[in-house]
Amino acid sequence: MSTPRARLAILASGGGSNLQAILDHLRSLGAASPAEVVLVISDRAAAGALDRARAAGIAAVHLPASASHTLAALLEAQDITHIALAGYLRLVPAEVITAFAGRIVNIHPALLPAFGGPGMYGRHVHEAVLASGARVSGATAHFVDTRYDEGAIIAQSPVPVHADDTPATLAARVLAAEHQLYPRVVAALCAGTLSLGSDGTVRGAPPVS
Ligand code: GAR
Repeated sequence: MSTPRARLAILASGGGSNLQAILDHLRSLGAASPAEVVLVISDRAAAGALDRARAAGIAAVHLPASASHTLAALLEAQDITHIALAGYLRLVPAEVITAFAGRIVNIHPALLPAFGGPGMYGRHVHEAVLASGARVSGATAHFVDTRYDEGAIIAQSPVPVHADDTPATLAARVLAAEHQLYPRVVAALCAGTLSLGSDGTVRGAPPVS
């Protein structure tokens, strides 16, 4: 008997290119896909991620970040089994993280533990990397806990920082790395080949390329 597909919710605040990469990757797996994206939630009504969800025929919900009980109830009502944050810029309520411990992941546009934490999102991350003089940046996939960007690191994909980079050119290079890395992490999590041990260690991280 085959294992039932994971019912995946994506939380996103922005354009949703990572959401799109996940949808495209799962679709490319066809009948072997371990997950179905059944719900996309955004704290921003104008988020492109909601448009992408609607275009794909997926339930798309605008939920202000203050509605934490509503978020938990919505996830339960839709029988969500796993959550992927994809450019979600809010702290996920503790009750949701507790309920989904080991089944909720995030993608961050830098090599954690550097350039993470409160205020480190989107363009701010790339500005900080350039200001630091770092020669390498990249994407980090990690499990989510109640603190910003501090959950166990699953996998990282480095990219070079060029001398003439602007925050926008660096962001584009990192985003391309995210699109390669994150769908594979999400698929592995949903397939059960990636997990978070009770001792906090990551087991079975997928290969980066
Ligand atoms: C991505 O670069 C993602 O890593 C970043 O927001 C962008 C969203 O792009 N997330 C964070 O900065 C979280 N700390 P997208 O909406 O096109 O996927």
